[in-house]
Amino acid sequence: MNLFDVYPLFDITPSHAKDVWVYDVEGNKYLDLYGGHAVISIGHNHPRFIDALKHQLDQLMFYSNSIINHLQIDYAHALGEISDLNDYQLFLCNSGAEAVENALKLASFHTNKQRVLSFSHGFHGRTSAAVAVSDYEAIISPLNKQHLVSKIALEDHEGLENAFKSKDIAAVIVEPIQGVGGLDQVSGSFLEHVEVLCRKHNSCLIVDEIQSGCGRTGKYFAFQHHHVTPDLITVAKGIGNGYPLAGVLVHQKIKAQYGLLGTTFGGNHVACQAGISVIEVMQKQKIRASIPNLEQHFKERASKLSSIKQVKGKGLMLGLEFDAEISTIRKKLLYDFKIFTGGSANKHLLRLLPPLTIQKQHIDQLFNALEKLT
Ligand SMILES: Cc1ncc(COP(=O)(O)O)c(C=O)c1O
Repeated sequence: MNLFDVYPLFDITPSHAKDVWVYDVEGNKYLDLYGGHAVISIGHNHPRFIDALKHQLDQLMFYSNSIINHLQIDYAHALGEISDLNDYQLFLCNSGAEAVENALKLASFHTNKQRVLSFSHGFHGRTSAAVAVSDYEAIISPLNKQHLVSKIALEDHEGLENAFKSKDIAAVIVEPIQGVGGLDQVSGSFLEHVEVLCRKHNSCLIVDEIQSGCGRTGKYFAFQHHHVTPDLITVAKGIGNGYPLAGVLVHQKIKAQYGLLGTTFGGNHVACQAGISVIEVMQKQKIRASIPNLEQHFKERASKLSSIKQVKGKGLMLGLEFDAEISTIRKKLLYDFKIFTGGSANKHLLRLLPPLTIQKQHIDQLFNALEKLT
């Protein structure tokens, strides 16, 4: 059987990894400034993380969600503590798209409405409603198009007011910093305007923190740089450091009912151990504390390179915008300088989503390479 060929591949086969380094089967060592698409938070194969997974595999790998799983309660507690959102409730699932799908569904249950308002260049995953609220025509099938969705540009205050005239908006979904779209950030004033209208019209504010959360911007969630209280927050990627783990943080005003949501694998024992150990390592190593300095160092080095038009993003969710398209730069960084970086829908933007454990010398390694290249 052949693989269903949907991924354009780089000709590299990783064999093992440690912290910010990935090694391939030919013995090459790569600096990972992409984190497997913002997934690696505490560094590849962190010993505490690996020990936690091995321990759990020896004990109990899986049982269904029909029994008591104390690890889910421990994880919810740890996530509440680290994010300072103890008042929220947690629903666990397996992937980002699934978290978004469940958040949209909850918003619809809660408001008894159907329409979702989302934003140009937004990306929220590939399941039915998640892809319908994303802004990428080529990946939205006719089936997905059945959802009622309105899309407006970020910062379009007038468009926002007009959209709410339809009276059927169950939810507004927004990435505080757009990932796939190319690192445009929502302003505090716009986000507050969205919240005011959500309250006025009985709609839910969903903040998608799948890429921007887990401490990547310095605060645990990127929306916490602003002054809003989301009804639903979606998490995935970094919270499992490579183990599939995702969830929805649900405001206490939204009440649970047996059977309302469900999943076979979500919140399984190994996944919870992965999540707990990520939080423990983040706290023990005070990982978030170094992020503002790293961001500043990155921006200082970027400012010295004339080929860079603009630096985008926040914390360790950063982008370098060039006049030229970045596909050649990206390939050269990978094959000639052994550095993994990312692209985005903006073909001129090099996207950096490194493990949160990187240090200044790793940032220097990137800019030393870019100085030679551009
Ligand atoms: C903001 C955002 N939401 C949702 C998703 C979908 O997550 P997953 O690929 O785990 O389904 C992504 C993935 O890139 C994302 O960046």
